Amino acid sequence: MTTVLELKDLKRIYVGTIGMTKKKSIEALKGISFEVKDGEIFGLLGPNGAGKTTTIKILTTLLAPSSGEAKVLGYNCFGEEKHIRGSINFIFGGERGLYWRLSGVENLRYFGDLYKIPSNILNKKIKELIKLVGLEGRENEKVEGYSKGMKQRLQIARGLINDPKILFLDEPTLGLDPVGAKDLRNIITKLKAEGKTILLTTHYMYEADELCDRIAIINDGRILALDTSKELKKKYMDDENASLEDVYIKLVGGCTNE
Ligand SMILES: Nc1ncnc2c1ncn2[C@@H]1O[C@H](COP(=O)(O)OP(=O)(O)OP(=O)(O)O)[C@@H](O)[C@H]1O
Ligand SMILES: [Mg+2]
Repeated sequence: MTTVLELKDLKRIYVGTIGMTKKKSIEALKGISFEVKDGEIFGLLGPNGAGKTTTIKILTTLLAPSSGEAKVLGYNCFGEEKHIRGSINFIFGGERGLYWRLSGVENLRYFGDLYKIPSNILNKKIKELIKLVGLEGRENEKVEGYSKGMKQRLQIARGLINDPKILFLDEPTLGLDPVGAKDLRNIITKLKAEGKTILLTTHYMYEADELCDRIAIINDGRILALDTSKELKKKYMDDENASLEDVYIKLVGGCTNE
């Protein structure tokens, strides 16, 4: 199987400011390494501030690493971004990244135009995506009138507009109702069946357990464990029928990084 994501000793230091002038270094990633294979759903779990979003920002070429290696489809995330951007997309949980004064369809057309998708193909794609995410009937209304879940569904459609090979989902079910979250998990399973590779972060253990082929548990910028859910349960709980939450709590304990 081809390796599509490759991280080697990846580090990221942020320089934060305290008060007016004082600087403080925050080591968000302290040297993480892992690989993701073509077609996998790979989960990144860890407490608030563990470094999950930082990892995704580097892999989606939005943030430069401080040192180490991050490659997507064989290309360096820093320096070869041009070769990566057309083949990936990302969805951050929450309501950012949409134009509220535009309708759902207008938003998708705007983002499709950024990828220079010819309009006949784009119109067809938009129809398909509206159907996939269950926004039929509401697609011509302004996004400002959408509920949180509807905005989140539109985010998913936006993230699929360029038919990405690799999709980065950062807490995609945040704030969705149980049915909305279940629908989204079904969409993720469908995308995997189509051959897409997905890197997912979530704070919902059952979601990671249901969806992910392999899981990395990350805390304070370091990977504590990486395996299939079943192996993690065997290794850390001595019981393959334990819950992933038990494994997580055993590894991460009560600590948070904030
Ligand atoms: N722009 C920034 N400037 C300074 N520090 C930052 C910045 N972005 C993130 N950090 C810090 O880097 C660390 C990792 O943050 P990150 O957002 O990657 O965590 P996370 O695992 O995604 O957490 P969460 O589960 O809360 O989303 C945290 O200590 C955070 O405060
Ligand atoms: Mg995050």
